Amino acid sequence: MTNNKNNNSGIQRDLQNKLVLITGGAGGVGLECARHFAQLGADLLLIGRRNDQLKAATKMLKKEFDVRAHSLAGDVRNSAFAQQAVEYAHKALNSSIDILINNAGTIFRGDVLKTDDEQWREVIDINLNGVFYFSRAVVNQMQDGGAIVNISSTCGSRASAGLAAYCSSKAAVNMLTKTMALELAPRKINVNGVAPGAINSPMLFSKHLSDINDANIIKKNKDSIPIGTIAEPKEVARAVIFLCHEKHITGEIIALDGGFTVA
Ligand SMILES: NC(=O)c1ccc[n+]([C@@H]2O[C@H](COP(=O)([O-])OP(=O)(O)OC[C@H]3O[C@@H](n4cnc5c(N)ncnc54)[C@H](OP(=O)(O)O)[C@@H]3O)[C@@H](O)[C@H]2O)c1
Repeated sequence: MTNNKNNNSGIQRDLQNKLVLITGGAGGVGLECARHFAQLGADLLLIGRRNDQLKAATKMLKKEFDVRAHSLAGDVRNSAFAQQAVEYAHKALNSSIDILINNAGTIFRGDVLKTDDEQWREVIDINLNGVFYFSRAVVNQMQDGGAIVNISSTCGSRASAGLAAYCSSKAAVNMLTKTMALELAPRKINVNGVAPGAINSPMLFSKHLSDINDANIIKKNKDSIPIGTIAEPKEVARAVIFLCHEKHITGEIIALDGGFTVA
């Protein structure tokens, strides 16, 4: 038996014509998320440091999906830049941001004793502080009823020797996600995370200390994943879209790891 007075509940968030800001939007996972939002008729604002990559990404999105796609180059480590992105949306696009995907990220591979101050700070600055700066700036202007999805990692809940800075940054992102979910629930803003294991996307193959080739990286990762494959960026993008559609899921970190963290 349903209650008619509750007739606004149960309806998915419509993503058409919503403005979606994606940090790291021209990278492997970020661009795949952008393509999935574009397919649903959303407008896009892509953020990253490399302007040429951003321009190529927006050109492709406009051509392939006939959507409004814009970009702004800058560094997520700069809190003033987060504010600038929000203002850019208002002035140039005449819109507040409806959906934020905090996806920009970096990794440092090396034991704690081999991690210098600069390497530690870089990872924490990009992976954690960047998420904080963009989330704060965006929710300050977001209409009630928006959504935030943070791209975390299995490393946020499961330790991995040689990835101390990365694991610490993603664990903190998980807690920021849950805390913000509580703070923003009264405004009906959903805050969730996706925690992938290995993804067939540039970061998996970057910054290795030894000369390991791509095929061996894939094999090594597959061997530790119960389902026996690494994820494709489109699988992460579909989880992101799901979390943006659903209004009753908040404060969740969805593992997308082929069973890695339950093994
Ligand atoms: N690949 C994996 O196996 C894997 C697994 C689990 C989780 N993840 C997470 O998934 C996300 C995306 O990873 P990916 O594999 O798609 O990596 P990617 O292709 O290297 O993309 C990372 C993106 O972040 C941007 N970025 C990095 N530092 C930035 C900064 N300081 N300011 C602004 N933008 C910055 C990069 O653009 P610019 O360089 O132009 O700035 C790039 O577009 C990351 O959060 C990562 O931790 C990846």
